[in-house]
Amino acid sequence: MRVLSVVGARPQFVKLAPIARAMAGHADHLIAHTGQHYDHNMSDAFFADLGIPHPDFNLGVGSGKHGEQTGAMLAGLEKIIEDTAPDWVLVYGDTNSTLAAAVAAVKLHVRVAHLEAGLRSFNRRMPEEHNRVLTDHAADLLLAPTQVAMDHLATEGLAERSVLVGDVMTDVLYQVRDQVAGTPVDLATPVERGGYYVATIHRPDNTDDPARLRAIIDGIAKVGKPVVLLAHPRLRGLAERHGIELGAGSITVSEPVGYPQLVNAVVNSAGVITDSGGLQKEAFLLRVPCTTLRPETEWVETVELGWNVLVDRDFDALAATVERPRPADTDAAPYGTGQAAAAAVRALVER
Ligand code: UD1
Repeated sequence: MRVLSVVGARPQFVKLAPIARAMAGHADHLIAHTGQHYDHNMSDAFFADLGIPHPDFNLGVGSGKHGEQTGAMLAGLEKIIEDTAPDWVLVYGDTNSTLAAAVAAVKLHVRVAHLEAGLRSFNRRMPEEHNRVLTDHAADLLLAPTQVAMDHLATEGLAERSVLVGDVMTDVLYQVRDQVAGTPVDLATPVERGGYYVATIHRPDNTDDPARLRAIIDGIAKVGKPVVLLAHPRLRGLAERHGIELGAGSITVSEPVGYPQLVNAVVNSAGVITDSGGLQKEAFLLRVPCTTLRPETEWVETVELGWNVLVDRDFDALAATVERPRPADTDAAPYGTGQAAAAAVRALVER
């Protein structure tokens, strides 16, 4: 069996790591990188830190408007799929790289498996929501991370193509958590264990409107402990363009960090402030309280279990939410126990 994995953006490299390991001995596994993310600390560092094999192909597509970026990926991936003739194209998550690979493959009658299928925010302003819905409906096999995702797929008439495999981010997170346990926190700013927060902001809905971005930064600046803001290049670029100083009040600005450093920084922190999908869930799995700067979340379990609070408007009161007391402990495992990659590979082999 030959499987072509297509990735392009940071969260996809994290999901690829356990899959690449689980493929060994079961498939001829090829990796195509679209080049959507290209900075060293947004891309190569993840391959090196997580022991992911070097991509067999890199399209070097880079940044651009949605149509321009997705179109360049479609053209490049079509050629790679024709040349390699895989039995499956495996796509990850909800980025433009995901959608481009799914569309390129189905048009060539190559079967598509979608890892992290069935997530829904029901927010049609998010580019990722369109990428998910379109990919799920194009794909032949839907590898869902949670029962909630399975239920969404069933509602859309996709139950027969869906398999609950668990969440591969749990696999990689637990491995890396154990590797970094006991090592010092490696951030550019010196921090004290439990005495700081970790923040990330990158969603267009938060970064593109200067008034909203300013309100978010002002809100975070009032938090009573240091906040290390790991600034995605998109955030840095837009803040500069709008004349917004990111390093206000409690905030110290840092470059994005590698995955092991991130996991170590989160596990030793007092909490997380983010608009990232993955980080909300990582915070929950590490039992660190999270405040999410969005009107809704795909990872509803984190909210229902009390570890995640959504803040969408009242950023003046953000500090109080961030500094709330820790919730009651739970041993709930809605994201599986760390065996999802093996289950995903099994599902491909069986079909
Ligand atoms: C993309 C995904 C998003 C995912 C995120 C993870 C889409 C539509 N969005 O958003 O779902 O959560 O990745 O980070 O696919 N840039 C650099 N260097 C890089 C990468 C990006 O400077 O290596 C800058 C560029 O100015 C670029 C901007 O960041 O225009 C946005 O990058 P892009 O890949 O378009 O989207 P993300 O915001 O990263």
